[in-house]
Amino acid sequence: MNNYQTKTNALIFGASRGIGLGFVKALLEKQDVNIYATYRRTNLSTELLSLETTHHQTLHCLAVDVTKEDQITNLSDYIQQQTESKLHLVINCVGILHQGTLQPEKSLKHINLENLVYYFQVNSIASVLIAKHFMPLFCHSNKSILAFISAKIGSIHDNHLGGWYGYRASKAALNMFMRTIAIEYSRKCSQTIVVSLHPGTTDTDLSKPFQKNIPPHQLFSIEKTVNQLLEVIYSLTANDSGYFISWEGNRVLW
Ligand SMILES: NC(=O)c1ccc[n+]([C@@H]2O[C@H](COP(=O)([O-])OP(=O)(O)OC[C@H]3O[C@@H](n4cnc5c(N)ncnc54)[C@H](OP(=O)(O)O)[C@@H]3O)[C@@H](O)[C@H]2O)c1
Repeated sequence: MNNYQTKTNALIFGASRGIGLGFVKALLEKQDVNIYATYRRTNLSTELLSLETTHHQTLHCLAVDVTKEDQITNLSDYIQQQTESKLHLVINCVGILHQGTLQPEKSLKHINLENLVYYFQVNSIASVLIAKHFMPLFCHSNKSILAFISAKIGSIHDNHLGGWYGYRASKAALNMFMRTIAIEYSRKCSQTIVVSLHPGTTDTDLSKPFQKNIPPHQLFSIEKTVNQLLEVIYSLTANDSGYFISWEGNRVLW
């Protein structure tokens, strides 16, 4: 991705489990990446934290709840000091579909104000806060990527089934934030490509309760998803900035 220097700096949000942890493992295989990885709950991050012990020179794990803006600010300040203000790859893998009593709504009667707000806080607003506080780390002359993991279910064009109000709408809002961020970044950090990515249905805790009707060939392992997304990420060009791109490399209709 970066042709001009030997070591690149990557930051993965939501690396405790699932796709985020998969990105960390894949990046550890590369020799030239210095990795920052965030987790929220220590008890769910044992694999990540043990990787940090075995790869202490390349992997640095930091606790962040993305609903807390001060924690995002502190993380940005810390990484600016550690990297001389240079990040080359940031992937936000944080997302929720279900968590305790928060479950995707099957119908309007299940709409709950607090749950709806929480979907937007985690799935949409966190990304615009990340774009705000990490902009100084993208103001350099190397090609860089800021990617948000979205979901095709957030495509308004593709919504033929209904339901899942909060998740769908929060991912659609994420895509609008991403598009708007891409326009501002193109003016202020013109070497940064900003995208939303659809990973495809992936075998993680998030999809686990909803996997029974998915044909096996459409349910990707985490490794497969991460490899497909990294291939897409490494092939992105400036013309892709501001678009919602699937694991196949195609633009998803809004
Ligand atoms: N899996 C799929 O089929 C699929 C399909 C389409 C899109 N996606 C999207 O892909 C992304 C990754 O999903 P996944 O399947 O890997 O899910 P996952 O295994 O459930 O992992 C979700 C991650 O988000 C973190 N997180 C949740 N709320 C947080 C908060 N407030 N602050 C900080 N971290 C928080 C979790 O941390 P904790 O461990 O602390 O909970 C965990 O690291 C999500 O955006 C999801 O919407 C997934």
